Amino acid sequence: MKAILIRDGGHSAEDLYVGDVSRPEVGRGHVLIRVSHSGVNRPDILQRQGSYPPPPGASPIMGLEVAGTVETVNSDENLWTVGDRVCSLVNGGGYAEYVSVDARHLLPVPRGLSEAEAAGLPEVCLTVYANLMEHGALQAGETVLVHGTNSGIGSMTVMMAKGFGANVIATVRGAERAAWVKGLGADHVIDTRNTDFVTPVKDLGGADVVLDIMGGDYTPKNILCLKHRGRIVQVGMIRGNKTEIELPRLMQKQGILTGSMLRPRSADEKARLSAAVAERVWPLIEAGAIRPVLARVFDAADAGAAQAYLDSGQHTGKVVLRW
Ligand SMILES: NC(=O)c1ccc[n+]([C@@H]2O[C@H](COP(=O)([O-])OP(=O)(O)OC[C@H]3O[C@@H](n4cnc5c(N)ncnc54)[C@H](OP(=O)(O)O)[C@@H]3O)[C@@H](O)[C@H]2O)c1
Repeated sequence: MKAILIRDGGHSAEDLYVGDVSRPEVGRGHVLIRVSHSGVNRPDILQRQGSYPPPPGASPIMGLEVAGTVETVNSDENLWTVGDRVCSLVNGGGYAEYVSVDARHLLPVPRGLSEAEAAGLPEVCLTVYANLMEHGALQAGETVLVHGTNSGIGSMTVMMAKGFGANVIATVRGAERAAWVKGLGADHVIDTRNTDFVTPVKDLGGADVVLDIMGGDYTPKNILCLKHRGRIVQVGMIRGNKTEIELPRLMQKQGILTGSMLRPRSADEKARLSAAVAERVWPLIEAGAIRPVLARVFDAADAGAAQAYLDSGQHTGKVVLRW
């Protein structure tokens, strides 16, 4: 099969090429997907650059999510049939024509969506669902504060929080992006190019849940924005992996500061999350309450250009490769 490989010793986007490799073995409990589209994510770029090696047992090929068609089923559980249109989180190996996946991790392509749109859903949906609804324990009627809402994670958080009946305060950089985020359904949008977010959020009554991809200097500010018994869920650290906080501020509010990562979770845990997302998030997508945002589709042979585009930060939404 064809796969996107990295030239020996190469770390730049120009070092990616289409090569021939063997199809993956389809272990017990696994399904082989004939991939039509592969989602492009930042960890793929880090893997190419050598700073994010695949975990033990994972495919050395880049790619964390795909959409396509079930080609082979090696599972007694009657979950999938050859020919089903599916999308899935994968433990590496997504930048290839075929990938073997734990049958419990597959999700159907939501009704009304293309496979290109579906390829960009698993990573962001599982991440946001786990952190917003499980770690953040969001309840309908509560208020969510989310930063960087033109990002994949940020825009999905806005839509998912609205879908589950929350009020959303979104921050973003720039007036054009602010207008775009308002269009996603955010109740309040703060342009952090013009103003700090703490006072406006406090004026709006504060946040029950903060889903934060920023860290750094945003963490103490997030604590200031928290309501009594509020929860901050750390998902990224774009503004810094170190921060200084005043602990009494958290304690006075009986606040919770937590966080999680998707990739190191066990196969069982990903199976549980995939089932929860299928049950609770897929209906919101099929009803149009969550709309996948596709930034651009590249031919798989242009994977280097696709990664460079993602890295440039020009995109709004998901970048996807087409096989
Ligand atoms: N924990 C997990 O399991 C998990 C899973 C998936 C992703 N993540 C993390 O989540 C984060 C977002 O991922 P993504 O794919 O959604 O990212 P993305 O689409 O590339 O977006 C990055 C966002 O960060 C903003 N940003 C960049 N530098 C900034 C700065 N200095 N100050 C304020 N905003 C800044 C960008 O805004 P501009 O457009 O204004 O630059 C953009 O909104 C990443 O850090 C990723 O590693 C975590």
